Amino acid sequence: MEKLQPVRGTKDLLGEEYLRHERIVLEAKKIAEIYGYQGISLPIFEFSSVFKRSLGETSDVVGKEMYSFSDKGGEEITLRPEFTASICRSFISNGLQQSLPLKLFTHGPLFRYERPQKGRQRQFHQLNYEFLGPASPEIDAEVIAMAAHLLENLGVLEFTSLELNSLGCSETRKKYQAALVDYLKSYEKDLSDDSQTRLYKNPLRILDSKDENDKKIVINAPRINDYFTSEAQDFFEKLQEYLNILNIKFNVNPSLVRGLDYYNHTAFEFVTKELGAQGTVLGGGRYNGLIKQLGGDDTPGIGFAAGIERLALLSNISVSTTRSCAIILLNQDNINIAIKIANELRKKNFSIQLEYGIKFDKALKNTLKNNCNFVVFIGDEELKLNSVKLKNLDTRIEQIIKIEDLQNELC
Ligand code: HAM
Repeated sequence: MEKLQPVRGTKDLLGEEYLRHERIVLEAKKIAEIYGYQGISLPIFEFSSVFKRSLGETSDVVGKEMYSFSDKGGEEITLRPEFTASICRSFISNGLQQSLPLKLFTHGPLFRYERPQKGRQRQFHQLNYEFLGPASPEIDAEVIAMAAHLLENLGVLEFTSLELNSLGCSETRKKYQAALVDYLKSYEKDLSDDSQTRLYKNPLRILDSKDENDKKIVINAPRINDYFTSEAQDFFEKLQEYLNILNIKFNVNPSLVRGLDYYNHTAFEFVTKELGAQGTVLGGGRYNGLIKQLGGDDTPGIGFAAGIERLALLSNISVSTTRSCAIILLNQDNINIAIKIANELRKKNFSIQLEYGIKFDKALKNTLKNNCNFVVFIGDEELKLNSVKLKNLDTRIEQIIKIEDLQNELC
């Protein structure tokens, strides 16, 4: 029979890789705590309309990448491709308007039917932070500073640079979009097929096209900053001022539009050259109209998400495991006493690896694999005196001690 494989674009997390993911989530939770974000856990699937109405029908995610199906009750369901839409849905469903301002943190698996490659999977994991309520540029600066802090704590910041743009308010967008379409129309035939489709549906996305010819056409396209209302201009200038005060380096990139339709004003990405084509480690921005668009009260929001797989590829954070104590039987007949000792020590919160039924040499090898710092050898002679042999694997010192003294020695 053919050996079973995981579905393309999915991955089992084992050993060191599992520990690295866990450690990244732990650091992310610490950051959430430092900045006052509460945890929230959301369903893995939602009604498809939650994402269709949020991310935009012309976004790649909705157009090509969603795992959608009808369930047995005939409901149109989608495995979540991102968190922001679900958080806004949850905000509305739970009547959280009363709790504003609200800072929420979540993490977990997401699903996008993309072509798998290094740093890109069909099931991947994100850390996600959202700040709902206030809509002033100091909030945006705080959120970006928090993102930088997270990357710094993971040892990733030094491999990234921050790209920043403003997509302005809806008035800015409307005027700019018209100017952009006007310009691009004269190159319509030369644009890539994808961009030709986007020209009338979502022209801004042409700005971040990866097609070489599109890139050449876009170089001379009108720039969004020439269409900012004074409010949008002010907002963006203030944000840059605050980032300078916070000593956060950034590069204003007028082509940065992000792949999802809900953004306005601030858009940002921490990008790296270390991961080949999948250079965006963390992305986010402001989405002031989204909750209203989904049927809630008009509530501004800003947030970001970072892909755990991409962070794990870049991070040098240590993933040392807790050290433990092995119990090795010199005579398998003494198993009764061994399980009793193991049980008592575990109840005192010691990490114990009880090695039964295997050869002595193999049991000793396992102490290395299991990162043990002590071994308890249970032998007939010592047991007669109600004792065991304890070896400290760091100092190599061995001693015979009473069983009742074991826990003091292990501390
Ligand atoms: P996004 O740019 O679609 O934004 O994804 C954020 C991050 O998730 C990316 O920068 C990348 O690290 C990771 N990512 C995305 N797709 C994949 C994939 N197929 N495989 C591995 N990693 C991936 C959002 O999802 C927005 N909801 C972010 C946000 C939150 N905006 C406001 N609040």
